[in-house]
Amino acid sequence: MQLNPFAGAYVTDPGIIWRRLLDDGAGAHFAEDLGLWLISKYEYVRRALGDPTTFANSLTLLPAYNPAPEALALFAEIDAPPVTAAADPPTHPRTRRALRATFANTDRRVEAQYGEIVRRRVDELVARLTARRGERVDLIRGFAADLPLRVVLDILGVPDEDFDRIKAWSDDQIALVWGQPGPADQVRLARGLLEFWRYCQDLVDLRLRQGHRGDDFVSRVLDYRNGDDEVLTRAEVASMAFNLLVAGHETTAGLLAHVLDLALGERERWLGLVADPSRAPAFIEETLRLTPAIDGWLRLTLQPVTLGDVTIPAGSRCLLLIGAANRDPAVYRDPEAFDPERTGRDHLSFGYGPHFCIGAALARLEAEVALRRLTAAIPGLRLAPGYVRSYKPNFAFRAHRELPAVVDIGVPAGSRPRAQEIRPVVEAA
Ligand code: HEM
Repeated sequence: MQLNPFAGAYVTDPGIIWRRLLDDGAGAHFAEDLGLWLISKYEYVRRALGDPTTFANSLTLLPAYNPAPEALALFAEIDAPPVTAAADPPTHPRTRRALRATFANTDRRVEAQYGEIVRRRVDELVARLTARRGERVDLIRGFAADLPLRVVLDILGVPDEDFDRIKAWSDDQIALVWGQPGPADQVRLARGLLEFWRYCQDLVDLRLRQGHRGDDFVSRVLDYRNGDDEVLTRAEVASMAFNLLVAGHETTAGLLAHVLDLALGERERWLGLVADPSRAPAFIEETLRLTPAIDGWLRLTLQPVTLGDVTIPAGSRCLLLIGAANRDPAVYRDPEAFDPERTGRDHLSFGYGPHFCIGAALARLEAEVALRRLTAAIPGLRLAPGYVRSYKPNFAFRAHRELPAVVDIGVPAGSRPRAQEIRPVVEAA
């Protein structure tokens, strides 16, 4: 079969394709256009995510296509050692331990360490939007893509002035690895990725020169390492920063975009959140299930594996279709329906097992604060007339091209927001 993820239905509504794959019952198909096995059933996707002895991560962050020779030469120069997402045992447990010790990954730790950053950054962006009352804005550039990168830069202690180039490098990495660039673009994007890697190495060198006494993530990891290469090498510290700068924002940007799209897409949903912001966490959880920000993730089989009637040979690259698994009717009743009343966090949008997303709690906090502050400050926010949903061509990161909206501050007729929920936000200077 052909997945054709870079055009057609996949860039407007990939759910149509996932439905077809699930309907035929096999749960695993070979996609000739990508040279990848597609795994779609919930049971199989969860098994693959959770079983590192059969499904390895070593090629997770490398393109599925054969890069042009000049691009390949540039890839070879990016000697970032595998850590966490790209690592297998024994490197994975060691680097994951380091990350868990230095990066907050529970609701309580995230609130304590990053709560103030998230609220300050959300308020700044909401103030910028309210300053544009009555205007048409793009909620991706003006909010969803902006917030998570600003938060992650604060956590890593990276100055705001580096925002634009990190954003560009990171977007380029997503297009390079999980998109379909032509040979000339591969070279351009790989050159950017190499610069990005050198930037992360310089960041670590700078913290070392400063004695890593700061409260930023890189200083914390260097403290944890305490000069011992058995714990972590300097290159591994740089590689952690390299990964977090991308993983920490492109994903949450996608989540925020999906939340706003679903919330604003039906007036009743938005008004329900305006009237009762305590619905936000359930709304976000159902958004994660139905429209995951990463809806496909790569693994490599280390041995032949049989899933139902299908045997996948050893050495095969598999695309775990998280988006399809989250809509498997064997697990979810009426799976295509957006129903925030569903309970549980059993969707696979943050993965499962030993590689479970380290940033899940941070992403949930960012989305909740964002939704609460936006509904309070701009209750009349609405999608711009004529908006047509379309995603960037990519088989892993589901990112909107744009989300045009009109900043209407007024409380819309028919909604009764609770007075105490409408907190003033500081207007941008
Ligand atoms: C909505 C937002 C996010 C989504 C949908 C998401 C999704 C994922 C997924 C699917 C994985 C792979 C899990 C697996 O292989 O089992 C993952 C891993 C990871 N994520 Fe996230 N992520 C999000 C936010 C974040 C944030 C905010 C950070 C950090 C600031 C982060 C850092 C990581 C890291 C470091 C890993 C690798 C963990 C490991 O391999 O041990 N993610 N994430």
